[in-house]
Amino acid sequence: MPVIEIKDVSKLYGFGDATTLALDEVDLVIEEGEFVAIMGPSGCGKSTLMNLIGLLDRPTHGDYHLNGRKVSRLRPNHAAKIRRDTIGFIFQSFNLLPKLTALENVALPLTYKNISLTKRLKMASNILERVGMKDREYYLPSQLSGGQVQCAAIARALVNNPKLIIADEPTGNLDSTGSRLVMELLSEVHRMGNTILFVTHNPELTRYATRVVYMHDGTIVQDEQTAIGQVASTAKKALYKTAPTSEEDDLAGVSALMKAVPSTPSKRTSKPTAKKNRKPNKTTKKAKAKR
Ligand SMILES: Nc1ncnc2c1ncn2[C@@H]1O[C@H](COP(=O)(O)OP(=O)(O)O)[C@@H](O)[C@H]1O
Ligand SMILES: [Mg+2]
Repeated sequence: MPVIEIKDVSKLYGFGDATTLALDEVDLVIEEGEFVAIMGPSGCGKSTLMNLIGLLDRPTHGDYHLNGRKVSRLRPNHAAKIRRDTIGFIFQSFNLLPKLTALENVALPLTYKNISLTKRLKMASNILERVGMKDREYYLPSQLSGGQVQCAAIARALVNNPKLIIADEPTGNLDSTGSRLVMELLSEVHRMGNTILFVTHNPELTRYATRVVYMHDGTIVQDEQTAIGQVASTAKKALYKTAPTSEEDDLAGVSALMKAVPSTPSKRTSKPTAKKNRKPNKTTKKAKAKR
């Protein structure tokens, strides 16, 4: 039985002329133990798909079965309960509450359970130890590196022992060291037998995946099995096409960017290739009305 079975799923946002078809009759089956990278330009529907799979939202049309159970029409509070017991969700940023320590943040999802505070903190502490963050338990998020914040976010996603982990651009705000830390940790979670879905713009990170799903304009345009340790071949082509061939090209790219957006300082430390993949222009994407 697949973990995730999505059939003819569409998602529409808005009404009338302002309608956006974010997902267009998507079919997707994911088996237990897969480690799936989701790639595609900004606005193609990756987060919409992750939110549906993570039961943070419902499809407009179509069916979704999670562990063999139909979940596409659940009431929000029922969905929230299933989500809490089955799914760990990691976002690109705003993952931790700033006024709580790493330990308190990780213990948060246990609050509803009928267990003492001491026990909850002990469980959180064990998970933090597993992700290599034992010595940072009492740090506030602002005292941690970006990579450490994401590791704590992964710890929090794991504390209820979910079998499915969904990470929407977990390395989107991280430098290469932070990205590696996070991906190595997700790999370990995968090796323990969990199913993982993660969104990335970085072709290099397909090395960690067993499968890469490529999206465009609300549909899945390619689906590729890939060996762990190797960059997926389609992702590699995309990398080859967009990678600057020399420093001059790189500089030319930067100056072109500066002309286009004169005063937007970027906090990102990612490589220019990653940034290029990220930039697809929203203005050309029309809101498509369904039929
Ligand atoms: N809450 C929303 N309301 C209206 N449109 C939305 C909403 N969320 C996403 N969209 C639109 O749906 C499309 C897919 O968005 P998203 O799933 O966030 O793409 P991605 O994660 O691939 O960048 C985009 O055109 C986006 O503008
Ligand atoms: Mg997104």
